[in-house]
Amino acid sequence: TTTKMTSPQDAPPMPDAQVHRFPIQPLNRFRGASATIKRPREVAHFSYDENHEYRDDESSINYYVPPPMGVDLKGGFDTFRHYEEKEDPHLDSLLKALVSKERQAGSETRAQADFLTWRGMMTKDNFAEFGMFATLHDGTIYIEEDFPSRFAERAAEGDRPAPRYQHPDQQSHEMMMYWGYKFETLALIPTPPESTPREEIEKHQRSVVSNHAQHCSIVNTSFGPHSLILGGEVDGLLAPKPTDPDAPVQWVELKTSEELPPSHQQQQRDILKFERKLLKFWAQSFLLGVPKITVGFRSKAGILKGLQTFNTHEIPGMVRRGTNCWDGNVCINFATAFLAWLKEVVKDKGVYSIVLKKKSGVVEARRIKDGTGGIVSEDFLEWRRTKD
Ligand code: A3P
Ligand code: MG
Ligand code: MG
Repeated sequence: TTTKMTSPQDAPPMPDAQVHRFPIQPLNRFRGASATIKRPREVAHFSYDENHEYRDDESSINYYVPPPMGVDLKGGFDTFRHYEEKEDPHLDSLLKALVSKERQAGSETRAQADFLTWRGMMTKDNFAEFGMFATLHDGTIYIEEDFPSRFAERAAEGDRPAPRYQHPDQQSHEMMMYWGYKFETLALIPTPPESTPREEIEKHQRSVVSNHAQHCSIVNTSFGPHSLILGGEVDGLLAPKPTDPDAPVQWVELKTSEELPPSHQQQQRDILKFERKLLKFWAQSFLLGVPKITVGFRSKAGILKGLQTFNTHEIPGMVRRGTNCWDGNVCINFATAFLAWLKEVVKDKGVYSIVLKKKSGVVEARRIKDGTGGIVSEDFLEWRRTKD
């Protein structure tokens, strides 16, 4: 038998390792004009099929269609095909897509950046603790999520006592997750709507909700002097992908949110809640160069009531003129400073753990073991070796 060592946290801690600290506060130090951000360009992509198996193609790309209003987003909950990750995905699919792209290109072209990670590692905030692992290989810092720590977070949520009284409008956590996917099913079809017969569209909108299939876009972008390769899921297209690889892709991000009360009596509390949510919507979308976000507004009970499409790049200005509850420049400057700090910390070979200590308000990094800890896949290492 072999010892299973699949994850960096399996390694014994190195108690004498130096601890590096990045304080979150004061955020004021990140105010002012933001670092220059390069418009993200797609460098590769891949799909997961209906069994969540990797496919080196565009087979899971979807197109936006306006969803019907008045539909109950709770419908079909009992037949939901829910995919939940059970094994640590590391960066494997992202790296697989890069290998495939480089193989097709044939020449000396190789995707190169200071950082490579999933988009989700760039949208973390200081409201929930997070854990990541990083390793430096060939001039690139690879960052993955500490997979078990995701479950620890969720288990902590589950520890909370169940409310003794549940309001009839109160929905379970599972239902609140389901209707986001139900909304996607109503608003996405696999072929361009112009060339899809009405009956086909309606058939798709009625199909069983599943989150197995996904399409992921991998982009090259930069924050100030730091270049990044980021991969993440994209929901759908508003128009077919342009043939010019430099032209922006008309992706749309779909979201659901509770409807706001009519404007004359709109409560400040509800607007604040929504504008806080816009931070997540904006960060998630602009990182991959997704230009539009379509929000499906639902009643408390989950009935789809309305739609609103936002231009991603206009969101920070909207919030600044609104409740001013967050500042896009602060986010960008924070990320830029954080990446600069990581470059200073992750300088040697080995695996580094990066953890947000919520209570003390610092991110701590320490070298925990030798090697690359499975962060960079063997296939990728092998491919790059053959190219050298
Ligand atoms: P909503 O965000 O509209 O509720 P995404 O918006 O990122 O494409 O994700 C699609 C849906 O997956 C979400 O729709 C939500 O229902 C569910 N989802 C995504 N991330 C989640 C998380 N961290 N916890 C719970 N549900 C999540
Ligand atoms: Mg999505
Ligand atoms: Mg979405």
